[in-house]
Amino acid sequence: SGKDAYTSWLLNLLESKGEIPNSADLQYQGQPVDQSEFLGVLNSLLSKEVVEYEPIVKEVWGLTDEGAAIVEKGSHEVLVFNAVPTGDDGISDADLKTAVGVAFGFGKGEAFKKKWIKKNAAGNYVRAVEKVEDQTKHDLQTIKTTGTHSNAAFLSLAKKKKHVQPQKITTFKVRKGAKFTTKLVQEATDITQEMLASGEWKSATFKKYNFNAEGVQPSSGALHPLMKVREEYRQIFLELGFSEMPTNKYVESSFWNFDALFQPQQHPARDAHDTFFLSDPATSDRLPADYVERVKTVHSTGGYGSIGYGYDWKIEEAQKLVLRTHTTAVSSHMLYQLAQQKEFKPVKWFSIDKVFRNETLDATHLAEFHQIEGVVADRGLTLGDLIGVLHGFFQKLGIKKLRFKPAYNPYTEPSMEIFAWHDGLDKWVEIGNSGMFRPEMLLPLGLPPDVSVIAWGLSTERPTMIKYGINNIRDLVGHKCDLAMINRNPICRLDKD
Ligand code: PHE
Repeated sequence: SGKDAYTSWLLNLLESKGEIPNSADLQYQGQPVDQSEFLGVLNSLLSKEVVEYEPIVKEVWGLTDEGAAIVEKGSHEVLVFNAVPTGDDGISDADLKTAVGVAFGFGKGEAFKKKWIKKNAAGNYVRAVEKVEDQTKHDLQTIKTTGTHSNAAFLSLAKKKKHVQPQKITTFKVRKGAKFTTKLVQEATDITQEMLASGEWKSATFKKYNFNAEGVQPSSGALHPLMKVREEYRQIFLELGFSEMPTNKYVESSFWNFDALFQPQQHPARDAHDTFFLSDPATSDRLPADYVERVKTVHSTGGYGSIGYGYDWKIEEAQKLVLRTHTTAVSSHMLYQLAQQKEFKPVKWFSIDKVFRNETLDATHLAEFHQIEGVVADRGLTLGDLIGVLHGFFQKLGIKKLRFKPAYNPYTEPSMEIFAWHDGLDKWVEIGNSGMFRPEMLLPLGLPPDVSVIAWGLSTERPTMIKYGINNIRDLVGHKCDLAMINRNPICRLDKD
């Protein structure tokens, strides 16, 4: 192999010369030796005591980023000269500035000093010579390859302009080691069946164990960051005594997703622009008839102290199947079941699962995302209870400063957007939505009139992106997602209290 050839070239060199005073002077296959590659070979020979070496550190001049840019693109004065057109019309000061960018200030002055350019009668820059030589670039190129320059004046100017900087290069002095040989025996790493059968194992040279080597990381499955975050939220809810709602249905009828939540049938969210409707099957025939009747009444003519919306409610609209647009569809279904119980018992529920919206996709929005939802039903709950529960919940996430802003949801009144103080961003950021379910939603369910239900919701994607430092949602979800990222990322630790 290439490495074997390299090794035997080095060993033969040592054999004939006795020692190598400085690897800087070596050439391999007509090229100056790459010192880091050379060091790799030295180290493997050192461990077998075939060679010994000492590093030789030398201070040289190397290029700064700016110096390297000049070697690549040309000096500022030449960039300016090249930007000035041939002919008498020339170029205006402003156009020259946009054409050459950072090279403008110094480059223009230098090109004038060298009498490469001049001004015409109109005040534009024109060329004063036909062509120019880029001496600065040549001189810097010399420094790049040799580490120095014979012209001391140029070197000190280049230092002042920060085109060069001191650099250390390490080369090596190499001697024969205690077990020097030009014929390296192949070291065996394993005893094979053949070695045992032939008796070769008795004389074979075995490679020494490297007890400092790091083990190979065993490959294993890994939870997606969203699932890690979900697990953390789940633990918080469980610690607070909430139980999980079953969310294993992506498809819901419009009835549970919208109508049961007192969302009118003309509401814009129920448009195909916002919601994914199913085509096959397109409708559900499993809606509870008597409850459907009460929902129809409260929407169209009102009841329970409400005047309703006053429109012609249609069962066909409620039967349409959709990909659920929020996990509140699960909550409405669950509250219906709760109302079927003989005796009301308070509940604390949560859910964390996927929802779908027909959104315009961008760096932070996909057509599917996850919602976290909390629901508490009890007799006589007030807005104060909601605020208290939210403080308790977010405290567990390490979020202490909360603010609430009045908002609107068809199914809650009052409704509040939740804002948290973000120390890093130094501002209030919206983190969720909440409210108290309306009587128009709760009373048709058949819940006792003194039962109130408070609820709140947030997404998992946003805290996940913040937690894992992901800026584009497509790096987190979908076919562009890097599987190594999923493997590499640690479990989610929220700074809980
Ligand atoms: N369903 C709401 C949303 O999708 C969140 C919410 C849940 C609001 C519960 C109030 C009560 O944004």
